[in-house]
Amino acid sequence: MKIIPKRNYLFLLCMCLVLMFTLMACGKSKKNDNTVVDSNNALNDESNNDVNDNDNDDVDGDEKSNDAVEETDSEEPIEEPEKEPNLFLEKYQETGELPSLAELYKDKFYVGVALAQIDFSKVKKDLVASQFNSLTCENEMKPDAVLDRNATIALGDEESVAINMNRALPAILFAEENGIKIRYHTLVWHAQTPDWFFNVGFKDGGERVTRDVMIARMESFIREVMEYMNTNHPGLIYAWDVVNEAISPGDGREDGIRVTDNRWFEVVGPDYVELAFTFARKYAAEDQKLFYNDYQTYNKSKMFYLIKMIEDLQEKGLIDGIGMQDHMDLTTPGILDYQYTINKYTDMGLEIQVTELDINTTDNSEEGQKKLASRYKAIMTIILNCIERNDSKITSITLWGLSDNRSWLNQPGTPNYPLLFDKDLNPKYSYFGMAMDDSISIAY
Ligand code: GLA
Repeated sequence: MKIIPKRNYLFLLCMCLVLMFTLMACGKSKKNDNTVVDSNNALNDESNNDVNDNDNDDVDGDEKSNDAVEETDSEEPIEEPEKEPNLFLEKYQETGELPSLAELYKDKFYVGVALAQIDFSKVKKDLVASQFNSLTCENEMKPDAVLDRNATIALGDEESVAINMNRALPAILFAEENGIKIRYHTLVWHAQTPDWFFNVGFKDGGERVTRDVMIARMESFIREVMEYMNTNHPGLIYAWDVVNEAISPGDGREDGIRVTDNRWFEVVGPDYVELAFTFARKYAAEDQKLFYNDYQTYNKSKMFYLIKMIEDLQEKGLIDGIGMQDHMDLTTPGILDYQYTINKYTDMGLEIQVTELDINTTDNSEEGQKKLASRYKAIMTIILNCIERNDSKITSITLWGLSDNRSWLNQPGTPNYPLLFDKDLNPKYSYFGMAMDDSISIAY
C-alpha cells in the first residue's frame, strides 16, 4: 500500500484551499465539533482541548479580551481562536513534503527511532535526521554487543570487565553529527547477555561465580559503559534503560521477579534489580534519567508487581521513570486501559517514556493501513491529552524501527506492517496518524 502523491491535481486543490481559507477568514468555520478534531488541538501548545471550555484563558487581563467579554454580553457568539489545521497528508500528496515529527513535538517530548547497524545508509540517515531527535540502538548497546571477552580475560581479574563500543559507533557518530540524543538500551537484561559473563574465568560453560563476584562484575560493567559514554560523548545519553524485563508474574514469585532463563536472578538473587539501579545512580551524570523498561506495562496483573518494585526503588531515590515498550496490536491495550496506565504511573511521580512503539498488523491493504493510522492517532491522542490535562511527564516516544521491512515482527512468509514508513521509506497513513493529521479518524 503506497500513498500516491496527486501532483496533477495541484491547481484544483490550491483553489480549494484558497476557498477554504477564505471561508475560515470570514469566520464561517468557527467551531470544531467532534472528538477527532478536539484531539488534534492537543498539538497546539496554546490550545485548550476541553470542548466544554470556552477558551477564555486570554480573557483575563488585557483590553482586547474585555472587548470579547462585551461582545458576549451583546449575545454575539463566542469566537474561538483559529487552530492551525493539520493537513499534512494533503500537503504531502500535493507537494511530496513532510513535516518533521521531531519538530512537531519538540516542546513536548523526544521522537525517537530504533536503528540497527544495517540502517546507516545515506538515505535512511537523511530521513532519520529530518524526522527524529532521539535514537535507540536496536542491538548495538546491549550487553552481548558491548562486553569484550578477550579484553576482559586479558585484565586477569575475576571482578572486572572490559567493554568495546565499536558496534555502536556509527549510531553514536551519526547522532552527534545531527544533534540527536540517545536512549541507552540496555544495561541489565536476562536476554542478549553472554553466558560467559556469569562464569568463573569468563569461560563458556563451567562453574558460575559467587553472588559477590557477580555483583562486582555488574558494578564494573555499568561503570565502564557509563564512564565511556559520559567521557567520550558527554551530553549524548539522556536516558538509561538500567534494567529490562525483570518482572514475569507467570514465574510464580511473590515479588514477580523473573526466574526463567534469568542468570542475574540465578547468580545474584532478586535484588539484582536494586543493585543495578544503585550502581547506575552512582555513575550516571546528574541530568541523565534512569529507567526500568518492560513490555505489557498496561497489563493489570503485571502492573501490580511493577508498581511494587518501582515504589521500592523510588523510596531509595534510585529510579526516575518507566519505559513502556508498547509493542501493541490494533486492539490491545484498549485505549481506556492505556490512559489508565499512564495516569497510574503519573500519579506515582514517574517520568514515562514510550520506548519501543510498534503496532502489529499483517494487513497491508488500504483499509488495514488506515486502521493502523487510526490506532496511532488514538494512542497519540491519549498521550497528548495526558500531558496537557494530567501533567503526565511523557518525555520520549520511540518507534521500534524505521520501516516495515526492518521490523522484528516480520515472520518468514508472514510480513508485518507495523511502522510509519514502508520498505521504500515512503510515509504511510500511520505516519500521518502519528502526526495527528486532521484527515485521520481515531475511530475504526
Ligand atoms: C524487547 C527488547 C528489545 C527488542 C525487542 C524485540 O522488547 O527490549 O531490545 O529485542 O524485544 O526486537
